[in-house]
Amino acid sequence: MLSSGFENDSSGSKSNNPDFQVLLEDFYARYQRVMAGGSEKALALHRSRGKLTARERIDTLLDKDSPFLELSALAAMGQYHDQFPSAGVVTGIGKVHGRYVVIVANDATVKGGTYIRETIRKHIRAQEIAIDNHLPAIYLVDSGGIFLPEQSRVFPDRDDFGRIFSNQARMSAMKIPQIAVVMGSCTAGGAYIPAMSDESIIVKNQGTIFIGGPPLVKAATGEEVTDEVLGGGEVHARISGVVDHLADDDVHALKICRDIVATFPQADRQITDRIESRQPLYSAEELHNYAVIQTNLPVDHFSIIERLVDAGEFHPFKAEYAKTIITGFARIDGYKVGIIANNGVVFGETARKAAHFIQLCNYRKIPMVFLQNITGFIVGKKYEHEGIARDGAKWIHAVATSTVPIISIVTGGSYGAGNYAMAGRAYDPRFLFMWPNARIGVMGGDQAARVLTQIKQAKAKNSDDKHGKSEEEIFNEIKARYDYESSAIYSTSRIWDDGIIDPASTRKILSIVLDITTNKKWEEHRPGVYRM
Ligand code: COA
Repeated sequence: MLSSGFENDSSGSKSNNPDFQVLLEDFYARYQRVMAGGSEKALALHRSRGKLTARERIDTLLDKDSPFLELSALAAMGQYHDQFPSAGVVTGIGKVHGRYVVIVANDATVKGGTYIRETIRKHIRAQEIAIDNHLPAIYLVDSGGIFLPEQSRVFPDRDDFGRIFSNQARMSAMKIPQIAVVMGSCTAGGAYIPAMSDESIIVKNQGTIFIGGPPLVKAATGEEVTDEVLGGGEVHARISGVVDHLADDDVHALKICRDIVATFPQADRQITDRIESRQPLYSAEELHNYAVIQTNLPVDHFSIIERLVDAGEFHPFKAEYAKTIITGFARIDGYKVGIIANNGVVFGETARKAAHFIQLCNYRKIPMVFLQNITGFIVGKKYEHEGIARDGAKWIHAVATSTVPIISIVTGGSYGAGNYAMAGRAYDPRFLFMWPNARIGVMGGDQAARVLTQIKQAKAKNSDDKHGKSEEEIFNEIKARYDYESSAIYSTSRIWDDGIIDPASTRKILSIVLDITTNKKWEEHRPGVYRM
């Protein structure tokens, strides 16, 4: 049994790359911090009520030998005065009775399990993963609904709180099984989580479900009623019929949940080409040595690939042509994959080679792994005249219309339109993970600072708006802000990715997610119009 994310697996791992070691240790320190959940006081109160924590519930639910791939563990970090570890919800994928399920577990020790923007994003992202891969979804509910001070940022818009329930209806129509286990509060809109699930379970004298709690009822109608009488376990199991099973405690509820999963039909899986796995030639920890801190520098993706793939065997495609992109086939834990990795700035031929390779993978039904370290497309008159925008469009088109799964790993920088071409979040990779040194932004800190400093200086010269700051001061200020806002921590805090991972865990995580993507048949490839 593995209690939490894969990131934890290599917590003892050391790097010979001192700058990266600092980042790695910082990542693990943050990771350990959020694993504890809310405050000690909140935890003590939670336990005094006979409840398991969110992560203990997941451990109890999963098969004893199941991994648990936790997603976005560092969500909300550095925001809200760090009062929302993991954004108050644990999401991830693990196995119940040998089949993968998506789990969304509220952490009631974090502000009563209430939802801020990042909690919603995590919940909806977990549902997206369930939809993309046709995975059953299990909601372990213990939440006070919306975190009221944030209501204007989490309630009214399309992908706000309401999206969770509309997704539930759509998922049900797609025949994706959903189970809710009500293990605490389940208030207001949250009441729809069990009500819209295929089957629901409630823990006696502990779980409650109501559209409006006792204080609201009193204010609205004058009626005085307790939690239990309004919407406790006995009420919903015996009177309202909103739940289907009444459990004695958390462990019993999770046992019932496992029994329900055993009744699900088998998945209609994609047949893929997988053979017996062979180990890479070098230890996974060696990947630390290839994590560059200055993400405007090249990353040695040949060496990284060698350390990720079975027996270090890589069959390149167009090895002699357009060398700033590496394309080729390999196996990862026995799964056949197409790998696309950056090896410098993008020229027209780079884009054409990548688009060609992506088409091959789609026609051959081979999933793709993108290793991103890209500063963007080449600029200048010569390249514009040659039609770099047309070639870039081909690549972006190929990525956007791909129907085989894409897994993106940001090993270095992911900047500008390069992010699109290399399957950034807007291009729906099935999963996207960042190494701790990774950066993501419209451009690098140095470049942005240079551009903005020039604009500010020109403006100051032509107006009375003399800010009195030297060029160097302006440059440093802008650079510091861009560097901060493009860091992996900043990204993962806002759920722009599925989590930061230790490079040493990359192969293991790829193996799991490649397996997950076969849970559903892949669609036929139907590209649109390529500009030639
Ligand atoms: N909005 C903002 N903060 C909330 C909240 C909400 N909806 N619900 C709980 N909190 C905060 C509490 O203020 C408290 O904050 P603190 O740790 O800074 O003191 C923390 O969450 C824990 O709440 P508390 O009531 O002390 O814990 P509890 O475990 O006894 O009860 C709830 C948890 C969720 C059952 C209870 O707080 C509750 O009923 N909240 C209101 C739920 C509601 O009406 N939601 C409607 C919104 S859609």
